[in-house]
Amino acid sequence: MLVAPSILSADFGKLNDEIIAICDGGCDLVHVDVMDGHFVPNMTIGPVVVNAVAKVASKPLDVHLMVEDNNFFIDLFAPLKPEYISFHIESEKHPHRVIQKLRSLDIKPAIVLNPHSSPQAIEYLLEDLDMVLLMSVNPGFGGQKFITSVVKKAKELKELINKHNPNCLIQVDGGVNDKNIQELKDAGVDVVVAGSYVYGASNYGQAIKSLQI
Ligand code: DX5
Ligand code: ZN
Repeated sequence: MLVAPSILSADFGKLNDEIIAICDGGCDLVHVDVMDGHFVPNMTIGPVVVNAVAKVASKPLDVHLMVEDNNFFIDLFAPLKPEYISFHIESEKHPHRVIQKLRSLDIKPAIVLNPHSSPQAIEYLLEDLDMVLLMSVNPGFGGQKFITSVVKKAKELKELINKHNPNCLIQVDGGVNDKNIQELKDAGVDVVVAGSYVYGASNYGQAIKSLQI
């Protein structure tokens, strides 16, 4: 299991140290939550701050867009050369075009499904994707309770992935901790995002390792 700590739960007063600590603690990706105050009822960080993050991060960036205007935000964040940019199926009228745009920028495309969205909605996009992110909370805030129906959804998605593109990863984001990590692994999940579980721990490295099962 790969682990991508979400910096949303970091202490932004000492962001550099918080990024270095998760990278030194052995994380696989650095998950950056970008919110526009429209698609979700919260706002986070823009490219100026993420640029500072990118400079000290020794692990690849995984940018999760929770925005209405995906093209605008992709143009802002592409120069930072993230490994992945994920965008919500619920906010995009032309997801296939956005995937093509990300490919042309040499960024791995990922699509995000909110808790209510079915994996079948993206069946015909799977062959073009590197990752699908299943939300296990409603997007907008860290520290929420895990929505358990994501486990069944991950299993359904895994079947579709096996059929269309076995290289595509499944990521789960929200409320992940050492109590639910095993059932996610068993369901075929490859990558987890963990914010409050990692940044709420006294030893970030230990918390990360407890999820790398
Ligand atoms: C929610 C974000 C998540 C969140 C994860 O909108 O996408 O990345 O910060 O935080 P926890 O692990 O605390 O649920
Ligand atoms: Zn996220």
